[in-house]
Amino acid sequence: MPFRPRYTGLIDKYRDRLPVHDDTRIISLGEGNTPLIRLNNIPRLLGKEVDIYVKYEGLNPTGSFKDRGMTMAVTKAVDEGSRAIICASTGNTSAAAAAYASRAGIASFVLIPDGKIALGKLAQAMIHGAVVIQIKGNFDAGMQLVKDVALEAPVTIVNSINPFRLQGQKTAAFEIVEELECAPDFHCLPVGNAGNITAHWMGYREYQDHGIVNNHPRMVGYQAAGSAPFMRGQPVDNPETVATAIRIGHPQSWDKAWKVREESNGWFDECTDQEILAAQKLLALKEGVFCEPASATSLAGAIRDIKSGKIPEGSKVVCTLTGHGLKDPDIAISQSTAPVHTVEATLESVKRAILENMA
Ligand code: F0G
Repeated sequence: MPFRPRYTGLIDKYRDRLPVHDDTRIISLGEGNTPLIRLNNIPRLLGKEVDIYVKYEGLNPTGSFKDRGMTMAVTKAVDEGSRAIICASTGNTSAAAAAYASRAGIASFVLIPDGKIALGKLAQAMIHGAVVIQIKGNFDAGMQLVKDVALEAPVTIVNSINPFRLQGQKTAAFEIVEELECAPDFHCLPVGNAGNITAHWMGYREYQDHGIVNNHPRMVGYQAAGSAPFMRGQPVDNPETVATAIRIGHPQSWDKAWKVREESNGWFDECTDQEILAAQKLLALKEGVFCEPASATSLAGAIRDIKSGKIPEGSKVVCTLTGHGLKDPDIAISQSTAPVHTVEATLESVKRAILENMA
């Protein structure tokens, strides 16, 4: 058969494993089905025999993994008759909420920390017509306000405390298992609220419990050093990091995350901003893959643990790249050392610029 059925999003694909009915109106933008890219050059640079794959979640419709959860959360909100959704966000959730609300024809309200979200994400919330409320406080303050206001206004919360979000997000683990035909040995993720690491673990467990595979990965969560409550063993009141997406000091899935660590025999660790930016740049320069800073935290941590042998040679490692690099153009430009060459629009000048810069 020369044609395959059109891909229509993860709810259609995994309908049997998600809490929807045959007649549920699905709100989808074709999310999921993202590439699992095997790194060619970075393992060689590390001098280690490891298989590293990156799950490029930045290629979801709004440029982050949030779309997996948002298709479920908005589908259920609409099914239950909700006319408006609300979230607090470091940027990506607000972009996804705004887009899926538009698709559904309902309203969206997004609370974002004043001046601390990447430009691309703000652009998305605005163009999709969300009501953008910038608060003079951080994500954690916004999250508390969202919980409080939802008790008094007719709005459905679509942060990851909404259980349908995690149901949608678990499908990333399904896709990885299907492609590798087994679970990886290690799965590394950046951690903020810890919803995504929890959702992945749910997915891996489900496939193992249902006999689709007989192994599961050790789950490894990396936080930014200035924003690492799991490493401090307690919430952090004033988190700071260049990786604004994970600038979170009071993770909402605190208990779930520790359970994931225990059940999967995994670990948490932290990466400095320098390590995060170095990994973002290395991935872009050596593999052609552009992710946002927070996303590079998974690779930064994995590189360190591969170098030290904590992740041993012979392992199959998956790093989730949670968001696209275009989300945060300011950071990308500011950390690029290669100059832009401005020359006369003549053959001679362009030729000179090429010859002078040949490697
Ligand atoms: N990476 C990116 C790019 C994110 O946007 C987030 C969370 C995470 C990682 C962490 O995921 O919270 O499930 O542990 N962003 C949220 C937002 C908080 O509002 O967009 P987590």
